[in-house]
Amino acid sequence: MYKKKSCKYSLKKLNTFNINIKACKIVKVKDLKQLCLLWNEYKKKKFPCIILGEGSNVLFLKNFYGLVIINRIKGMYIIESKKYWHLHINSGENWHKLVKFTIKNKIYGLENLALIPGCVGSAPIQNIGAYGSSIQDFCKYVDIIDPISKKIRRINKEKCNFKYRDSIFKYSYKNYIIISIGLSLSKKWIPNLNYNDLKKLKYNNVTPKIIFNYICNIRKKKIPHPKIHGNAGSFFKNPIISPILGLKLLKIFSDMPFTLEKNNFKLSAGWLIDKCKFKGYIRNGVMVYSKQSLVIINKFNNSSGIDILKLAIKIYNTVGKKFGIWLEPEIKIIGNYGEINPCVFFKKK
Ligand code: FAD
Ligand code: EPU
Repeated sequence: MYKKKSCKYSLKKLNTFNINIKACKIVKVKDLKQLCLLWNEYKKKKFPCIILGEGSNVLFLKNFYGLVIINRIKGMYIIESKKYWHLHINSGENWHKLVKFTIKNKIYGLENLALIPGCVGSAPIQNIGAYGSSIQDFCKYVDIIDPISKKIRRINKEKCNFKYRDSIFKYSYKNYIIISIGLSLSKKWIPNLNYNDLKKLKYNNVTPKIIFNYICNIRKKKIPHPKIHGNAGSFFKNPIISPILGLKLLKIFSDMPFTLEKNNFKLSAGWLIDKCKFKGYIRNGVMVYSKQSLVIINKFNNSSGIDILKLAIKIYNTVGKKFGIWLEPEIKIIGNYGEINPCVFFKKK
């Protein structure tokens, strides 16, 4: 069994909130064999084990009394068919580097997903998305391994249950690790300019590189670089509510931005948070970012995970009471022994 005092290795540089918590053991793994060996060794000793990519979607509350594996299993294989590029990418590759590589090599389609932090293997878990695209538009399969039995399974796209910031990997295959993914990118490129922020681009003379640069620029203006102010992108998901509640709110707030998702209203959590006057609010060094209220920042990079959680709960309660909408956190919360169900902290009042 692990000892609390042996928890001495800092994860500060390995999570984008820049929280200075410690783990008993941190190992960067470069191949599958090393990963399975370590996982088995520590599970046998009854250590909790987690795997991280770049720690850009996690909030550590306390020291982690176990093994943290940092996935750096790299490699990519590309094959070409008449109409598609087929990419098989190992899970420890960096997502943004992949996007840049494809565009440089005239393989187009991923440009709307530029500058999203994290590893390729984490991308299908919450079905990463931005600027009108999401990984489900390109993903063909996700390969997973049970590190104990070393059994590998291929989950085809149809079985991944991709939805907005959601997939089967949030609920099933909990003992599995994602080892690689398959993407198919069409050789016939059609620009995706549907997102509001992209409306200024002209369909006829736009190129993937123009979209890529344009999106990188917007993103840099809206979300601070985690090295400057720790953050994990959007803290909450945008809520999807019934048409009845949507229409009721529209009568009161005629300026409320929304999009329709299969007749339901998808609202902007950032707008709801703004309406509760949180933009720029700061407490204990934790701030609601002034250019994007959905992003909670560790302004001076010396706040704790609990400070961040406290502000998130305050936002959750205030928005819930004002609008009757109870936001759902997008990030994963991690405690002494592993992931904690957010319902423990975020409870309707
Ligand atoms: P981590 O934070 O390391 O891990 C996330 C979870 O996945 C953890 O529970 C971890 O245990 C698990 N996990 C990691 N790797 C594996 C694996 N191989 N097998 C099984 N489980 C694994 N997201 C968007 O969708 N769109 C955005 O526009 C966006 N913008 C962002 C901007 C910023 C500045 C930041 C910091 C984050 C943003 N995010 C965005 C969130 C984040 O980039 C994504 O969720 C990303 O996919 C997380 O990757 P990661 O490797 O850092 O995952
Ligand atoms: N808005 C406000 N105030 C704010 C922020 C937004 O009123 O402070 C309103 C505005 O009306 C704005 C609209 O919300 O036009 C949409 O804002 P934005 O384009 O910044 O996107 P978002 O809905 O806040 C989502 C994703 C981001 C993703 C962007 C771009 C979620 C939870 N967040 O944010 O993803 O990059 O769209 O597509 O879906 C992430 O998941 O971590 C993330 C950063």
